Amino acid sequence: QGDLLLKNINAQAPFPISFADLEQAAAEKLAAGPFGYIRSGAGGEQTLRNNRAAFERYSIVPRFLNDVSTIDTSIELFGKTYPTPLLFAPVGMNGMAHDKGELAVVEAAHHLRIPYIQSTVSTYSLEEVAHAAPDATKWFQLYWSTNEDIAYSMAARAEAAGFEAIVLTVDTVMLGWREEDVRNQFSPLKLGYAKGNYINDPVFMATLPDHSFESYVQGVLQNIFHPTLSWENIRELKRRTNLPILLKGILHPEDAKLAIANGIDGIIVSNHGGRQLDGVVGSLDALPAIVEAVNGQVPIILDSGVYRGMDALKALALGADAVTIGRPFVYGLALAGQEGVEKVMTNLYDELKVSIALAGATSVKALRNITLVKNDRTD
Ligand code: FNR
Repeated sequence: QGDLLLKNINAQAPFPISFADLEQAAAEKLAAGPFGYIRSGAGGEQTLRNNRAAFERYSIVPRFLNDVSTIDTSIELFGKTYPTPLLFAPVGMNGMAHDKGELAVVEAAHHLRIPYIQSTVSTYSLEEVAHAAPDATKWFQLYWSTNEDIAYSMAARAEAAGFEAIVLTVDTVMLGWREEDVRNQFSPLKLGYAKGNYINDPVFMATLPDHSFESYVQGVLQNIFHPTLSWENIRELKRRTNLPILLKGILHPEDAKLAIANGIDGIIVSNHGGRQLDGVVGSLDALPAIVEAVNGQVPIILDSGVYRGMDALKALALGADAVTIGRPFVYGLALAGQEGVEKVMTNLYDELKVSIALAGATSVKALRNITLVKNDRTD
């Protein structure tokens, strides 16, 4: 156990560990447009701050004098066992961070044996990602489409390519109010970073008047936002796929109950990393009521603002089954490709493992017995 930090101290060129250092290094490496797109939140970034504040309000009351020499960090999801409760959040357009984009991330996921969730708006297609890491566990994050046939086509392609679950994001019925991108005049769509799954989709391509780049941009803009998405669409998707479906972006316990009533297999508690509606509750603050409402019927994954192993510990102690990591791995990708992604995830994992032991637990499940206190002061 004692060598977890030493392996970083012996590193020849120190790789940033804390989120602040990672963000700073990525800011120096990336151009203002891509960096601003990745870093920023919607509006005045209150949601972004709420995510961090929620973690900071919880403190652990550790227990001692238990044998914590062996820590089991494994979890089980949809019948498979994974070595860690840290998963990759679906992050679109990875080509803006690194040339190898999603291919580098899925290879890291394969190496670390954790699920990779590929975004609809990825630089490389589902098929290219599957080809790069055929044995990795891959899930597909679906953005619904105004033209439902495109959504069904993408879901069917994912299933055919060996993806094992569908993560339907429900909080992006239209794009959030993102001022940083206006300030930087940055549109990743217009730079072609989102094209992988669209230009390889026969149903989407058949809707275009021609195969020019302009037509593709117009086509995506017409199809990607879906303000009419409803429970009926979700029931229909369920009829058309054999894969488990998770809903990403659930914050209200009543929506969690409706999800279960509609046959959903898993819930991702998330506010999209503060990128959609500004002024939303920190995702960790939304977790306890959802844990209570779900009552163990389906797995719950906590997303948004998990920047330390200790944050993951708090989410797991409050009843999440796993957590997803967004910006930290994207910064790792920007800094050093696949190796950078692995470095970030390994550091988070090492901190989590040490923290589980220091809190007095020996497994992810045992964390549920750890006492947390919540400080409600806002000053
Ligand atoms: C995202 N996120 C996201 N979510 C999704 O469902 N589909 C997507 O295509 C994207 N794209 C995307 C791009 C970038 C650059 C970021 C930073 C995020 C949201 C992502 O899945 C996750 O909810 C947040 O990143 C979690 O918050 P943290 O970990 O970044 O704080």
